Amino acid sequence: SSEQFVARLLAEMSIEEKIGQLQQIHPEGDLLAEKVKETIATGGAGSLFFTGTEQLVHDAQRVAVEDSRLGIPLIIARDVIHGFRTVFPIPIGQASSWNPELVEQAAKVAANEASRVGIHWTFAPMVDIARDPRWGRIAESCGEDAVLASALGVAMVKGFQQPDEDGNLQGIAACPKHYVAYGRAEGGRDYNRVMVSRNELRNVYLKPFKGCIDAGAITIMSAFNTVNGVPATGHERLLREVLKDEWGFDGFVVSDWDSVKEMISHGYSADKRQAATQAMLAGLDMEMVSNCYQENLQQLVEEKTIDIAMVDDAVSRILLAKVKLGLFDKPYADTNQPELLCDAHLAVARELAQQSVVLLKNDGVLPLEKAALKKVAVIGPLADSPQDQLGTWTMDGLASDSRTSWAALQEMLHEGVQLTHTPCLQTKYREAPEEIATAVEAAKAADVVLLFVGEEEVLSGEAHSRSELSLPGSQGKLVHALAELETPVVMIVQAGRPLTIGKEIEAVDAVLYAWQQGTMAGPALADLLLGVVAPSGKLPVTFPKAVGQIPLYYNHMRTGRPSAADYTPPTLDKVKAMASSTRYSSHYIDSDPYPLFPFGFGLTYTQFEYRELEISNDSIGKDQVLVARVELKNTGNRAATEVVQLYTRDLVASTVRPVKELKQFRRVTLEPGEETIVELSLTYDSLGFYSEEEHYQVEPGKFEVSVGGSSATSLSKSFSVK
Ligand code: IFM
Repeated sequence: SSEQFVARLLAEMSIEEKIGQLQQIHPEGDLLAEKVKETIATGGAGSLFFTGTEQLVHDAQRVAVEDSRLGIPLIIARDVIHGFRTVFPIPIGQASSWNPELVEQAAKVAANEASRVGIHWTFAPMVDIARDPRWGRIAESCGEDAVLASALGVAMVKGFQQPDEDGNLQGIAACPKHYVAYGRAEGGRDYNRVMVSRNELRNVYLKPFKGCIDAGAITIMSAFNTVNGVPATGHERLLREVLKDEWGFDGFVVSDWDSVKEMISHGYSADKRQAATQAMLAGLDMEMVSNCYQENLQQLVEEKTIDIAMVDDAVSRILLAKVKLGLFDKPYADTNQPELLCDAHLAVARELAQQSVVLLKNDGVLPLEKAALKKVAVIGPLADSPQDQLGTWTMDGLASDSRTSWAALQEMLHEGVQLTHTPCLQTKYREAPEEIATAVEAAKAADVVLLFVGEEEVLSGEAHSRSELSLPGSQGKLVHALAELETPVVMIVQAGRPLTIGKEIEAVDAVLYAWQQGTMAGPALADLLLGVVAPSGKLPVTFPKAVGQIPLYYNHMRTGRPSAADYTPPTLDKVKAMASSTRYSSHYIDSDPYPLFPFGFGLTYTQFEYRELEISNDSIGKDQVLVARVELKNTGNRAATEVVQLYTRDLVASTVRPVKELKQFRRVTLEPGEETIVELSLTYDSLGFYSEEEHYQVEPGKFEVSVGGSSATSLSKSFSVK
C-alpha cells in the first residue's frame, strides 16, 4: 500500500534527507543554478516553486529523481489561482456565478494546463471569508458567506485534484488557504492581526476549510496573520488539534511565504530556532522559502527538544501526497494534456466569464437591439486593456491572449454599425478635462455609450488594500459628464472588489459589474450586451454605500437595537417607515442602514416571480430533512437563469445568531412564461452552530425559512426544531 511504501522509504532516510523534504525552495533566474542543483542532489529540498521556466523545472526534477540518493521527486508548486494560460475570472467573479459545476470545470482546465508544463500543486482555492472590500485580496476570495465559499472551494478542490476511484489524483494538489481567518485582517490591511471568538471562528472562518478537507484536499496553507495573538503558522491548537486531530486531515501543511521566519517579526519567536520549534510543535509540515527548519531542526531533534516522531510524521505526509499524485511514476510534465489555450478551454472561460457578471441596473437599454443599432460609442480606459481584464494573480496568462471588449464588439457587430472607441483616461490618476471633453463629443454623436470603467488589475490583490473605494482618478467625472447627455449610457465596471459607486450607478442607464473576467472577458461581455445570453450572476458580497459602513455583510449578528435593515421584505414599506423612527438603533446618522446592493443580488433581462412558498413539515427532528418548495415563474419575454436562494433565521438561541444565513441555492433556467416548482432541502444538522464552548449543537425552537432571488428574500415560513 501507499502507506507501506512511505514507511519503507522513511526507514531509509537520513535526518538530513528528512529535513530536506520539509523545505520548499524558490529558485531565482531561468537556469538551474549550481547551488540549487546541489541542494536538490543532496536531498535538501522536497518542493520547488515553478518560476515560469519549464526547462528549469525539468532539470531540477531530473536531478531529484536521477542524482539524489533516494530519487524522491520534487513536488512542483505554482499559484494557479484562476487559470493557467487560459485565464478565468478572478475568484470573486467566479463566485458570482453561484455555479459549482462550472467552477469545477474551470479548475480542471487550469490543473490540466498546469500539468502540461510540469506543475503538481496549486496554492488554491483561497477560501478566506472576506467581508471587507478594502482588503485587496477580496478579489481572490469567494466572498463573504461560508456556505457559498465552501461549495465553491470544494468544487475547486475536486477540479484541481480529479481523484479517481482509488483515491489517486489525476490532477494537481489543491491547497486551501490561508488557514485561518486571513480575510478578517484588521481594517482590511493585509497581513494584519485577527481577533475572533472561538465560536465565530468555527461558525464562519473554519467552515469552508472543513469543506475542502472533507472533499479530500491533500495540502493546506497556514496564514500570515495572527489569530487572537498567536501566528497561524505556529498555532498548535488550530493546526495540530483542530485540523489534524479533530478533522483527521492526513495531508500536509505548508507555511505561507517566509511565515515561519515572520513569527520573529510578530514578536512571537526570539529567533529562527524558536520559530522552527514553535512551527514544528504546532504541526507545520513544510516551510515555504525561509529556512528555519533547515538550519535548526537537526539540532533540535538531537537535543530532544523536538521528537523525531514529529519530523517523521511531517515527512510521511509529504511523501504520501507525492504518492497520491503519482509523482514516483510520473515526475515530469504531462505532455498528453490538451494544448494550452485550446478552443475547449476558451469555451469554458467564456461561459464562466458570462456567468460571473452581475447586472446591477437596467432601465431598459439592455440588451442592445442588434438590428436597431447604428452608432455605438465605446468609451473608457478598460474597453481595450488586455492586462487589466486578467486581474490579480495571473502569472502565466498573457495579455496578448486576452480578447478585449473592443475587439469582440468589432467582430460581433454587423456591418453598418458605426463603432467608435475613445480610450480616455489611460493614466487613471490624473485630471484630464480634455480627454473627458473628447469622450463627451464621441457620446453626443452616438445612439448609445458603452462606458468601461473600474480598477486596473494592480489595484487589488496581495498587499493592495485601499482606503477609498470610489472609481480611481477622474473616472467618476467622466461618468457624470456622459450621464448628463441625452445618449443612454451602459456602464461596465471592471474591478477587483465592490466599489462605492452609488452616485455613478444612479446617473447611468444600465450597469454590468464584470469584476475581472480573464482571457475571454471581451466576447463574454459582448454576449451579454447584445443579449446572446442573459446575465445570471449574483453578488457574493454585500456592496456598501460608503467606506464608513464597512464591515457590512448580510449575515451579521442580531443586536438589542436592530436597524431597519435587519428586517427584510415582504414588509419593506413598514421597515422603511421604521427607519426614521428607530433613532436609537444600530445605524449611522449620516447614512441609511441599507447596503448599496445586498448579498445575492443580481438582475437579468427578464423578471422572475416567486410564489407560494411551502414547507414539507412545520417541524424537523434529528436526522430529518425539511423540504421547501417555491413556485418560480419567468414572467418576462426572454429565457434566463435565476439563482434561487434559501436562508434561515434561528429566532431564539443560547448564543446570539445571525439575522439570516444562506443554507441552499440552485440555478434554475426558465423559458419566457415558463414556471416550475423549485425544491430546496434543509437538513437538521445544517441548523446548528458552535457554542462559546465550541460544541456543535442544534437547539430546539422556532426558526424561519425564507426564499428569494437575493438575501433580501421575499417569502418566508416558520417551522420549529424538535
Ligand atoms: O500562495 C501565495 C500566498 O497566497 C501569498 N504568499 C505567497 C504564496 C506563494 O506565492
